[in-house]
Amino acid sequence: MDKGFRLMAAPLQGLTEAHWRCMHFRMFGAEQGDVEYFTPFIRVEKGEARRRDLRDFTSDLNNGINVTPQIIFRDAEEWRLLTDTLIEAGATRIDMNLGCPFPPQVKKGRGAGLLLRKDSLDAIACAMAEYASQVTFSVKMRLGVNDPAEALEVADIINGMPLRHVTVHPRTARQQYKGELLTDELAAFATRVRHPVIYNGEVATPAGIAALTSDFAGVMAGRGLLARPSLFAEFRSGREFTEAERNAAYLDLMREMAPLLEERLCGASQFRDKMKPYWEYAPETLDRRLVKQGRKFGMPD
Ligand SMILES: Cc1cc2nc3c(=O)[nH]c(=O)nc-3n(C[C@H](O)[C@H](O)[C@H](O)COP(=O)(O)O)c2cc1C
Repeated sequence: MDKGFRLMAAPLQGLTEAHWRCMHFRMFGAEQGDVEYFTPFIRVEKGEARRRDLRDFTSDLNNGINVTPQIIFRDAEEWRLLTDTLIEAGATRIDMNLGCPFPPQVKKGRGAGLLLRKDSLDAIACAMAEYASQVTFSVKMRLGVNDPAEALEVADIINGMPLRHVTVHPRTARQQYKGELLTDELAAFATRVRHPVIYNGEVATPAGIAALTSDFAGVMAGRGLLARPSLFAEFRSGREFTEAERNAAYLDLMREMAPLLEERLCGASQFRDKMKPYWEYAPETLDRRLVKQGRKFGMPD
């Protein structure tokens, strides 16, 4: 494996939060310590960084883990507010969301919506220099809102930003999380961008990661890593887990995470609601009876 190739766990609201990251790290990442985890986006609410979002970054469950907070914002003002808050909370790296496809966010110019707002992007690019001694930035983006050419339109602004890397999900916001991956358009964008490019989208197997190592600086995996938490460990070791080992790895992570959540949440219904979404990403080969129980009760018997 190329030592410089970077492994990243994607931000997924309600899923890759502190309790999941903590358990994933302990089970599959601690030995090598080479996975960078991203928090789901932290937003502005009532004129301040939303407290619940912020707690996911300040949680003691992050101790010893390489965690980068991600922010979502619509203009330089929101960007500054969140950046200042995170620096105060101890962040030395911040990821900027230019990819969220959720229509209410896009319409307000946040997430992928910012790709169409060059003035705001320019203002943010200018302000970044002021923070250079305190924090480094990265960007996570899509190729556009409606058209993949939109990313090319902002390539120069992104090149003007001091960034560690740019993670690209090769779809438009209109496509949400499904449909064709726009790989040619991604290649065209990557040749225009001076920053290291991290690939993100539908990576679900060690072979899928290996196929990216020559063209990209790293990979960010989301749903594929939820379903196959051993994905990076398998890639590192060069040995694919058997189906039974993969299913066991998934269940082990759920079993380890459950008490952690039980301890921190109030009551059975909160626990159930928090656990349920994970079962939507259970491996297809996992016993359906267990998945059904998980969806219903949070954890199978
Ligand atoms: C339920 C859900 C929540 C997500 N939340 C975030 C988020 O908070 N920030 C972000 O940048 N991307 C978010 N994403 C997008 C993922 O980080 C990732 O870009 C996307 O799932 C594609 O990668 P994958 O095919 O490896 O899952 C979310 C995706 C899903 C399905």
